[in-house]
Amino acid sequence: MPGRTTVLVTGGAGFIGSHTCVELLDHGYDVVVVDDYSNSSPGALERVAKIAARPPVAVHEIDLLDRRALSRVFDEHHIDAVIHFAAKKAVGESVELPVEYYDTNVGGTTALLRAMHDHGVHRLVFSSSCSIYGNATKVPLTEEDPAGPTNPYATSKWLCEQVLADTCRHLPRLSVLVLRYFNPVGAHPSGLLGEVPRGAVPNNVMPYLARVAAGRLPKLSVFGDDYPTTDGTGVRDYIHVMDVAEGHRVALEHLVGENGMRVFNLGTGQGTSVLELVAAFQRASGTSIPYEITGRRPGDVPALVADPSAVARAWNWTTTRDLTAMCEDVWRFQELNPSGYPN
Ligand code: UD1
Repeated sequence: MPGRTTVLVTGGAGFIGSHTCVELLDHGYDVVVVDDYSNSSPGALERVAKIAARPPVAVHEIDLLDRRALSRVFDEHHIDAVIHFAAKKAVGESVELPVEYYDTNVGGTTALLRAMHDHGVHRLVFSSSCSIYGNATKVPLTEEDPAGPTNPYATSKWLCEQVLADTCRHLPRLSVLVLRYFNPVGAHPSGLLGEVPRGAVPNNVMPYLARVAAGRLPKLSVFGDDYPTTDGTGVRDYIHVMDVAEGHRVALEHLVGENGMRVFNLGTGQGTSVLELVAAFQRASGTSIPYEITGRRPGDVPALVADPSAVARAWNWTTTRDLTAMCEDVWRFQELNPSGYPN
């Protein structure tokens, strides 16, 4: 896709969305952001503009479920393609609030599809998750392995994939790429952009580790050491957020001239245990990270690792940033922004 292509990024102020905005702006795309700031802040977009040395064309603070406001965004801008990140993503919360998850994640996606259809926009990159594989019985996972979501968050992503696949069957001009991310971590190498989880205690291991390393939390709880893995702790496929962002930019290039839906894993193919991650973060940060082994976290699975070969074959593209870069970039962001973005 040539430069001066306009991409609508929903959830553009979020962790993955903001890094993808930088990647798109750096590659000559114009970007229109839609975000309701329910789990993000305008500060992230100020940083995006600083890094890319130009801002998004426009930022619209709207909820995707506000159909009239969404339609106005499409009226106002000539949108060539859409990247849809905006969604709720906390697994634990989804068990407590399933209706909110279906409403925001599935309803938001159908509202977006409706607006795209009404305005003749046919290209979409959709943010899905490895959590749709559920209790995977093998690693690594290919796109053909069966889905078995085990919580409303994962089910909402799986339902979106079904809606998109079926819509593509009936609307032949539609071109959709579904990217199932494994565990995105890391930060922009400038130290200006990173992950700013809401609340005092992060749910995910990487932001938690960073706060322990910075002395803002006393110690890491390692959730279980009796899994059938090399050292007994949970194994995940951590992928640098800049590789995730790059993957979206490359995906856009592959939407042109295609139609129908394709699904790809976005991971590195490397499994890392919690204890290996702790060791890597200690090396990268030069700190010592206290931890204790506690019981398993309900709903956790032993190991989730991508087979990333399908995307490599289709796009001639692979991730390039390793675990050391992920830890170093998180640590730089943590040190430069101990309290996240300024209000
Ligand atoms: C989960 C979701 C994923 C979602 C992601 C971000 C599943 C299977 N995965 O990933 O889809 O995108 O959250 O919201 O539902 N751990 C500790 N101590 C901690 C925190 C985590 O030991 O304080 C361990 C976990 O047990 C796990 C690993 O670290 O083995 C990664 O956990 P986490 O960062 O929370 O991500 P997932 O649960 O894999």
